[in-house]
Amino acid sequence: MQACLLAAQKIMEKRTIIIDCDPGIDDSLALMLALVSPEIRIAGVTVASGNVPADLGGKNALKILKFMGQLDILVYQGAMVPLKREYISAQDTHGMDGLGESGISEVTEASVHLGAVDFILDTLKKEEKVSIIALGPLTNLALALKKDPLAFQNLEMLVSMGGCFKSYGNCSPVAEYNYWCDPDSAEYVYQNLGKKIHMVGLDVTRKIVLTPNILEYMKRLDQEEHQNRGAFVEAITRFYFDFHWNYEGLIGCVVNDPLAVAYFLNPKLCGGFDAYVAVETGGISIGQSVVDSMDFWKKKPNAHVLTWADSLGFWSMFLSRLYGRGEEGIRQILKELMNL
Ligand code: RIB
Ligand code: CA
Repeated sequence: MQACLLAAQKIMEKRTIIIDCDPGIDDSLALMLALVSPEIRIAGVTVASGNVPADLGGKNALKILKFMGQLDILVYQGAMVPLKREYISAQDTHGMDGLGESGISEVTEASVHLGAVDFILDTLKKEEKVSIIALGPLTNLALALKKDPLAFQNLEMLVSMGGCFKSYGNCSPVAEYNYWCDPDSAEYVYQNLGKKIHMVGLDVTRKIVLTPNILEYMKRLDQEEHQNRGAFVEAITRFYFDFHWNYEGLIGCVVNDPLAVAYFLNPKLCGGFDAYVAVETGGISIGQSVVDSMDFWKKKPNAHVLTWADSLGFWSMFLSRLYGRGEEGIRQILKELMNL
């Protein structure tokens, strides 16, 4: 009897996480996935300036929480500017409102709190184990690490959507936005965290494309399940579709951030290798995550760099959880839709 109780207890044990983000269209999809995943308890959402300034990002996080019916989760605004660099937003990609010019109404039932850095430190000190899923520039984490490095002893896992290994950058030939926006914070965290950072870079997130087919399937599931999550996703990604067509000739949009959440939930969705990583903080390749895959520098690996991702597995998880349906049936339909 004891064994089954322990097994049941293990199943019920939720993993506590903080989501640090810059919502942002793909951050919003990542939040949606986390909010429908029973394995995790979101202690709070912290926001830094990235896609949009942190004050706007905080309000956007509230919009997602309200849509998903979970405004009980608190949002904390953090760094308004990067550690050293001049702040450059990504509103050209995410829209001036940060949610694809979707015009979603402001949330009046809740407000954004200040003090993201202290919230991160208090949570790390209060909880036995906390993981952080970082979906934006690492400014809040760098400030927290500088302020109280010992608090990070309770950090179970840091998953960071950022960087790139062999894939080309999206802000320069070699740099990905999150690490390019605040390279000094990224470098500080990689060199001082003292635990391996799970780097969910463009090498893997570029495999996760929201196509018109998948979006249409979501809208059909809306009708059957009487939800409008597909319509909501369409509303916030329309602008993103246009951006991808205009700049990458892609029909669809790369959704980077939700893969970081999916990987946290099921690490088997991705694979990679341990390596030492440094982030360039100046010059022509500023923001580049330099991955020492051949161990030239003989430095202790500080990262687990992901190099492949199971896109069918990701979309099966994303849709089955968003609609509360069995994964196998959805996987079979997705295989057809994704021509796999
Ligand atoms: O480069 C992609 C990353 O930068 C994503 O997290 C996106 O939301 C932006 O923050
Ligand atoms: Ca982001």
